[in-house]
Amino acid sequence: MAKVLILSGAGISAESGIKTFRDSDGLWEEHDVGVVCNYDSMQKHKTITVEFYDKRRAELEFKEPNYAHKVVANLKKRYKKDIAVITQNVDNLFEKAGLGYDEVIHLHGFLSELRCQNYDCSLIFDIGYKSQKEFNGGLCPKCHTKLRPNIVFFGEQAPMYEELNRHIQDCSLFVVIGTSGNVIGVNTMAQFATRSILNNYEPSSAINDAYFSKVLYKKATEAIDEIEQEIESFLNCE
Ligand code: APR
Repeated sequence: MAKVLILSGAGISAESGIKTFRDSDGLWEEHDVGVVCNYDSMQKHKTITVEFYDKRRAELEFKEPNYAHKVVANLKKRYKKDIAVITQNVDNLFEKAGLGYDEVIHLHGFLSELRCQNYDCSLIFDIGYKSQKEFNGGLCPKCHTKLRPNIVFFGEQAPMYEELNRHIQDCSLFVVIGTSGNVIGVNTMAQFATRSILNNYEPSSAINDAYFSKVLYKKATEAIDEIEQEIESFLNCE
């Protein structure tokens, strides 16, 4: 398992023009998370929910990775086995920065994918930036059941968390970039690692930064060079 775990949230994509969730003018200020990102959203609010993800997917076509994505991607390419890149984000900016599908773990799903709602099928289709109805009329090409965004809604299982927990147990350096910590308990995770770095634009009420060896309250693109140096010296001293 990797010696270094880099866990990111919406903050790493903020400078690419993708809204975060809980900052002022964030997504959850404009949309009711209980309507568009809840386990029963597809049953109770199908049209609004599908439109919400169609809109974010269409916008993603014109978003580019920023310097922080590029540095993380470059580190992963250079230290393949020693660095795990795990993100809460559903955007494809790490992939646009050069990471392969198998080089970044998306904990909460992936915006360009649809998933068959038939549990016995559950096929996943990457539709790029299209709207759901533009892909086979929104039906699974295999079993003709309705499709849905391949996003983990609140109250749903997040299978990739097992991967996250495995990496947490094994990593020695834990790096957090751009998450408020409202969904993933980064405080607890930081205690498993020998060394930990927190980079956020500003303090979050959900994170006790005393648990971190180093704290950088600044934009990810301004913190990433220092983070890169820490990771490289850590791996070169191992
Ligand atoms: N650089 C670094 N950090 C930033 C920047 C930036 N340029 N801009 C904002 N941030 C920080 C904010 O200070 C905040 O702490 O990013 C964090 C974003 O927090 P949230 O909006 O809560 O996003 P996130 O932590 O990723 O949310 C986790 O919640 O709604 C669910 O599934 C959704 O994956 C998401 C999860």
